[in-house]
Amino acid sequence: MYKLIVRPLFFLFDPEKIHHFTFSLIRILHKVPLVPSIFRGLYLVEDKRLERELFGLKFKNPVGLAAGFDKDAKLYKELGDLGFGFIEIGTLTPKAQPGNPKKRLFRLKADSAIINRMGFNNGGVEEAVERLKKNKGVLIGGNIGKNKVTPNETAVEDYKICFNALFDYVDYFVVNVSSPNTPNLRALQDKEPLTHLLKTLKDLNAEKSSPKPILLKIAPDLTDEQLLDIIDIVKDTKIEGVIATNTTISREGLKSESKEETGGLSGKPLTKRSTEVIRFLSEKSNKAFPIIGVGGIHSAEDALEKLDAGASLVQLYTGFIYEGPKLISKINKAILNRA
Ligand code: FNR
Repeated sequence: MYKLIVRPLFFLFDPEKIHHFTFSLIRILHKVPLVPSIFRGLYLVEDKRLERELFGLKFKNPVGLAAGFDKDAKLYKELGDLGFGFIEIGTLTPKAQPGNPKKRLFRLKADSAIINRMGFNNGGVEEAVERLKKNKGVLIGGNIGKNKVTPNETAVEDYKICFNALFDYVDYFVVNVSSPNTPNLRALQDKEPLTHLLKTLKDLNAEKSSPKPILLKIAPDLTDEQLLDIIDIVKDTKIEGVIATNTTISREGLKSESKEETGGLSGKPLTKRSTEVIRFLSEKSNKAFPIIGVGGIHSAEDALEKLDAGASLVQLYTGFIYEGPKLISKINKAILNRA
């Protein structure tokens, strides 16, 4: 039904407009009596064998929604009913910001991919906190970043503001230094600034009565040498884990016309590289920390490959757009089939 009717219809319209339309549609439908239970009946797979315990948290199942879809924490409850085991909100910044000028989101149909240069458009961390106060049990990751106007030299302050504001309302944190759409952000992945940033957040965390897991989200474009640095940094700062990967700046092997657009590429062209990064981190670190695998999961097999490569959980974004919510239950069922 999704791939036959919904997707062809949605794909006739501008991607960003249809994103907002789908948001409103899901929210309205969810208010109709019985619809939430229909959603759950169609997509939610509940089974003890899907549960995962990781960094002290209990995940209902290992399939999550990746950051960027519900940036402002507007739809986490409804998305939870579609079967996701956890929802990552953000990237949030201290102050609201509009992001880059439109058009900034491009579908690459021939490649089953997306290019985006949204640029951390979001309503600011405080607005999201107000929405999260209404959360009744959805496991939430808080993905945090810096405002575009904040120079890298003072970026740590932005991350601290977001960390403190979200602390009581999220289950884990993700430090995003890997988006290609905020000028210079990825320079924060370098050893010295990254160690400083993560140590600062770890210290802040240690002051709280019950600290929260902190994860680092990395780009797929890092070299082997940089990935080895990441392993050292994770061990040195003692953060809880890594999310691999964000979107890529590579354009290798693309067929679509829009391939020249600047921004981060996600979807099928990213599948292989993000799995490689997961495998590299897992093997070279000797499984020293948990990895959440994300990048080009469009089928249950893609998800299983990431789990086999060393990921403990997976996340979806572009595959969710191309394949629809059924992908979540397909992955969970495939995991159960192997259990
Ligand atoms: C993203 N992604 C993303 N990641 C992040 O950490 N913060 C963000 O704000 C966003 N925003 C965002 C917007 C759009 C339109 C897309 C397509 C992606 C990256 C996302 O979470 C994920 O890491 C990559 O897209 C790779 O996974 P998929 O899409 O191939 O499943």
